[in-house]
Amino acid sequence: MSKLPLKIWLTGATSGIGLAVLELLVAQGHHVIATGRNSERLEQLAEKYRGQIIPLAGDTTNPDDCARMSEALASQGPLDWAILNAGTCEYMDVSQFDPELVARVMNTNVVGTARSVASALPMLRASRELGRTPMLALVSSSAWWFPFTRAEAYGASKAALTYFGQSLRADLAGEGIVVSVVSPGFVKTPLTDLNDFDMPFLISAEEAARRIVTGLHKERREIQFPKRFTLTLKLLRLLPQRLTDALAASMARSQSKDDPA
Ligand SMILES: NC(=O)c1ccc[n+]([C@@H]2O[C@H](COP(=O)([O-])OP(=O)(O)OC[C@H]3O[C@@H](n4cnc5c(N)ncnc54)[C@H](OP(=O)(O)O)[C@@H]3O)[C@@H](O)[C@H]2O)c1
Repeated sequence: MSKLPLKIWLTGATSGIGLAVLELLVAQGHHVIATGRNSERLEQLAEKYRGQIIPLAGDTTNPDDCARMSEALASQGPLDWAILNAGTCEYMDVSQFDPELVARVMNTNVVGTARSVASALPMLRASRELGRTPMLALVSSSAWWFPFTRAEAYGASKAALTYFGQSLRADLAGEGIVVSVVSPGFVKTPLTDLNDFDMPFLISAEEAARRIVTGLHKERREIQFPKRFTLTLKLLRLLPQRLTDALAASMARSQSKDDPA
């Protein structure tokens, strides 16, 4: 277990998984620099957890906001952890195929995360210089392990983010910075509350936060949960591609049958 208190930058702290992670970190006595676009919500959180939360509002896809956040982070000194969790999901209706939807999702989930890495790295390096083991966590997803219907943009963004994180892990290993890729299954949050399909093995945001924070304390490079979902997907990946394709197409057909006309 890490020594207390840690200084942590958390993006996507205003809602869902990020908010549950924030509340758990605060309960453990850590200090959190909390980011999201909703500055009012961040101020409320800073008020509620006075002395433990520093609000740092910004849009992780906006280069000017990111430059400002980099400066603010630098003024706070070395970071023990950066948890880059800000993300979005939009499902594709292939009858109205929209490349702008793909661009939006990729921009938030991949480019926005890369911009956040740029903001976090100097202060993670500063922490390493003090002899600590800084952790950089990227919240990806296990959804891309199977070609789910309508998930072209979301799945592609999380596949890209996972590769990005694993490659970055190789390059930062020599500097002693640990990169952790977090791959949750379905978690009940305002984002998934919008879904109109069954979500197998759905867990609470609090349970997801416990799995993430415990994994980071253990310096885990891969944090995947819930096991019943991730193991099922791993087994499905052993199927020949043509069986996978048939299964995915039948799921797409059965979902479109359920759609309102
Ligand atoms: N829920 C699931 O089942 C599930 C499963 C696997 C992975 N994930 C991943 O977990 C992460 C959190 O998802 P969630 O379900 O907790 O969603 P959520 O409740 O919608 O929360 C998303 C968070 O990201 C922030 N955010 C979004 N775009 C941003 C931007 N451009 N700049 C700064 N902050 C931004 C939002 O804050 P503001 O609105 O204040 O900007 C919010 O705090 C995402 O990366 C998601 O892909 C979720």
